[in-house]
Amino acid sequence: GIKLLAISGSLRQKSSNTALMNAIIGLAPESMKCNIYEGLGDLPHFNPDIDVDEGPAPVRELRKQLMEADGVLFCTPEYGNGVPGVLKNALDWLVSTTVIMNKPTAVISASPSPMGGDKAHASLLLTLNMINAEIVEKGTLIIPHITMKMNSDGAITDAELKQELLAVLQELEQACLLKHEAYKHDN
Ligand code: FNR
Repeated sequence: GIKLLAISGSLRQKSSNTALMNAIIGLAPESMKCNIYEGLGDLPHFNPDIDVDEGPAPVRELRKQLMEADGVLFCTPEYGNGVPGVLKNALDWLVSTTVIMNKPTAVISASPSPMGGDKAHASLLLTLNMINAEIVEKGTLIIPHITMKMNSDGAITDAELKQELLAVLQELEQACLLKHEAYKHDN
C-alpha cells in the first residue's frame, strides 16, 4: 500500500492545522499507511556546519521518514505572513538532499483569518518546488475561517470542507499510485 508522511507546521497543543491533518488521516482508506512526523520541534537550527556525516540524529530521522514515504502532506499555519520558522527550518535541512524529489506532495494552510494563510501557502510552495517535490495538481488547499469549521475537539464540522479534504487526499493517493505504476514499468 501507499505510505504517507503527514507534517503539521504547528507545535501548538490545540493546533487547528494538526487537527486538520489528523482529520485527513482519518479519511484515509485502510490500504494507506499514514505516519505523522513528530520531530519538528526537536530539529536543531539549520546550520550547514553541522550537516556532516549524514547530519544530526533528528535530521537523519526526518530524512529517513521522508525517504520511506510515497507521498507527503503538509498542513501549516501562517505566522507573520510567512511559513512558521520551525517548518522552514525542517525544509532547510532538506535542501541539500533529494529525499522529497518527485514525491507527490499535498499542501494545506489553514487560518482563522479570511485569507487562510495564503502567504505561508505560497511561500511553502516556493521552497517545495525548489527541492523538487511534486506538488499534486488539485492537492492544495487554502482554508480560511478554520475556527468556524471545526469544533473544540478538532473535528471538522463543515461538510464542504470535509469534501474538499477528501478530494485532496484522493488526488494525493492517485498521484502516489501512478508513481508506483510508473516505477514498476521502469524496472
Ligand atoms: C498569527 N496568526 C496569523 N494568521 C495568519 O493568517 N497570518 C499571519 O500572518 C498570522 N500571524 C500570527 C502571528 C502570531 C504571533 C500568532 C500567535 C498568530 C494566527 C494563526 O493563524 C492562528 O494562531 C492559528 O490558529 C495558528 O495555527 P494552529 O496552531 O491553530 O495550527
